[in-house]
Amino acid sequence: MWEYTEKLKEHFFNPRNVGEIKNPDGIGEVGSLACGDALKLTFKLDENGRIKDAKFKTFGCASAIATSSVLTEMIKGKTIDEAAKVTNKDIADYLGGLPEQKMHCSVMGREALEAAIENYNSGGTKKHELEGKVVCTCFGVTEKEIERVITENDLTTVEQVTNYCKAGGGCGGCKGEIEKIIEKVQGRKIKEKLQTLPTKARKLTNIQKIQLIQQTINEQIRPALRAHGGNIELIDVEGNKVIVAFRGMCAQCKLAEYTMKDVVEAKLREFVSDALFVEEDRDSAQEPHNHRG
Ligand code: FES
Repeated sequence: MWEYTEKLKEHFFNPRNVGEIKNPDGIGEVGSLACGDALKLTFKLDENGRIKDAKFKTFGCASAIATSSVLTEMIKGKTIDEAAKVTNKDIADYLGGLPEQKMHCSVMGREALEAAIENYNSGGTKKHELEGKVVCTCFGVTEKEIERVITENDLTTVEQVTNYCKAGGGCGGCKGEIEKIIEKVQGRKIKEKLQTLPTKARKLTNIQKIQLIQQTINEQIRPALRAHGGNIELIDVEGNKVIVAFRGMCAQCKLAEYTMKDVVEAKLREFVSDALFVEEDRDSAQEPHNHRG
């Protein structure tokens, strides 16, 4: 059973603005019944270019109904430019939060709004189309959409991406590609963060260095190890020596130890400092496992 906020329940039991506006200024239709969720959003502007009415029709769960209902309430009175700034996080926040497994409902709301604005900007001619390469064919999710949910919601695992846009939640064949997109986006984010630091600030204090090492492990290294049944723990930092322990699969496998140590060292040098080197903490390591066959 999901944990729903009172506000979400209230919007589910008493949804606002259900239906469809006749002769709307913008129409956005997203999702599909085959994928289990669909949403149609229509809006009408007043003479000052503000949204005076918005209605929705949806096929979906309690969260889909509640997010669509609050979305229509949120955009009423806004100009097109103001409405275009509404994010899926704004929708979820307005409801006081959503169970993570239901975040894709807020993303569907934001997509429907974008599609309706696009339709309005094209004079009513443009319909929502998938843009760019489709990564998840089970749910029709593109690389662009996956990149966007990762960036806007700071996602670091495939499971989170599935919760936010469904990609990866079917046959699972696209999970490897999603993993690569996470690495690409998160790597870019850390680099951007570093580039915005003034040169002086790049001389990291010990605390900053440890924080950046931890962040790099969380965002760059752990997701990849988890995908293979493993994990990593930061034990200590002594000067430029980073002491880590490997957990899970192959924690004590000689071959894996060297491979993983090299990968971790390369990532830490790339994102934190060239001077770092990695050592494995053997005391906290797990019992060796048989690696025959
Ligand atoms: S292709 Fe993405 S879950 Fe099947």
